[in-house]
Amino acid sequence: MDIVLGLQWGDEGKGKFIDLISEGYDIAARFNGGANAGHSIERNGKRITLKSLPSGIFMKGVQNVIGTGTVLDPVSFRKEIINLQEFDTTVQPEKNLIISRKAHLVLPTYKLLDIFMEDNPEYTTIGTTRNGIAQAYSNKILRQNLRVGDIESTDFKSRVEHILKRDYRLLAGGDMILPSLEEISTEFFEAIDFLKKFIRTETELFLNVALFEGKKVLAEGSQAAMLDIDHGTYPYVTSSSTTAAGACSGLGVSPKKIGEIFGIAKAYCTRVGNGVFPTEIFDELGEEIRTKGNEFGSNTGRPRRIGWLDLPALRYAIMINGVTQMILTKADILSGMKSIAVCTHYELEDGTVETVSGSLPENARPVLKWMESWSADISNLKEASLLPEELKNFLSFLEEELGVSVGYLSTGPGREQIIKMK
Ligand code: GTP
Repeated sequence: MDIVLGLQWGDEGKGKFIDLISEGYDIAARFNGGANAGHSIERNGKRITLKSLPSGIFMKGVQNVIGTGTVLDPVSFRKEIINLQEFDTTVQPEKNLIISRKAHLVLPTYKLLDIFMEDNPEYTTIGTTRNGIAQAYSNKILRQNLRVGDIESTDFKSRVEHILKRDYRLLAGGDMILPSLEEISTEFFEAIDFLKKFIRTETELFLNVALFEGKKVLAEGSQAAMLDIDHGTYPYVTSSSTTAAGACSGLGVSPKKIGEIFGIAKAYCTRVGNGVFPTEIFDELGEEIRTKGNEFGSNTGRPRRIGWLDLPALRYAIMINGVTQMILTKADILSGMKSIAVCTHYELEDGTVETVSGSLPENARPVLKWMESWSADISNLKEASLLPEELKNFLSFLEEELGVSVGYLSTGPGREQIIKMK
């Protein structure tokens, strides 16, 4: 099993890379998160953002798995499938998608609770996507949640109604204008009927049998290493395990089965929502990158915060995931910039130096190495040897500093805009 992961704070361009390589696999599996992901994929000049669905959904020969470590929002899932079928009339998700019976459900009140907490000054505002993902994961840990497999049980409806009413009593204490319970339950149960059209099974068994038979599995991470619930910049993190280890637990596959671990990073950093971001750029260079790179949330449209490439954070992400090769994206966005920088290490208040960092101390001073940018347009280049010298130097510098090779360089949003480096 190979794994694709984001190494920064998400939006590294995982969708495009996964879409590109998934045709070489028999199975594409999602192991974490839910409708808070937003893999953007371009096909025939059109763009779609996948939320809960694995990117292999477009490939005829690829079986897709929504794994046990994920949370599934039936209402959002239904919309996503309808949208997908409008985007590409040839897709057959009823046939090439299977869903773990152990994946947890997102109930409609979880979104309301998410909004309630995000907007309530008594709680820390995380900057969530307001999709109720953390509520589903919290209820999972509290052992109060319902799972995909429960939709077959005879008391499913009454168990859902019990939770919805209980949550409404909680929400009634706030000043939110709530939709009627009837409205949200009708929509939810219609979506559950829709979900019943899809194959729901023990995906752990399916995956392990497939691996035993020699099939190739691609585990597809959403969010990214620095947003991992345990290893990221807590509390401004996502609520699931985003790392290579998370792929194993989220899919029920042994670490012994892991082959390649592809780590995706942008040539700079972005971050959505709150949280420490030492290399953040506040001047016009940041604005230039934001505009050129279209750094606005694919689901929310929120402007992303922009920073220089952060090697201490990247070294940490490479270390905890055991990345075997890196995929660098959006180098084209830095083309033609007056100057570009990379943070090589932090200097802490007590004078010590930190070269590998998962905690990104608030008062750390990022030490920047300024480098020459490349003026040539690289977006149509097909061969590594044709890259501008400045970009070659930039890549060699990164490989040396990070101890991992850049396997692919992405040079634009299109599927064909990628150079295999080795
Ligand atoms: P998350 O799971 O939400 O983290 O998504 P993601 O990692 O798949 O990234 P997302 O789709 O949000 O953002 C990547 C965007 O950049 C998409 O619009 C891609 O089409 C685009 N993109 C990917 N690689 C490149 C690249 O090398 N250059 C440029 N210019 N755009 C790219």
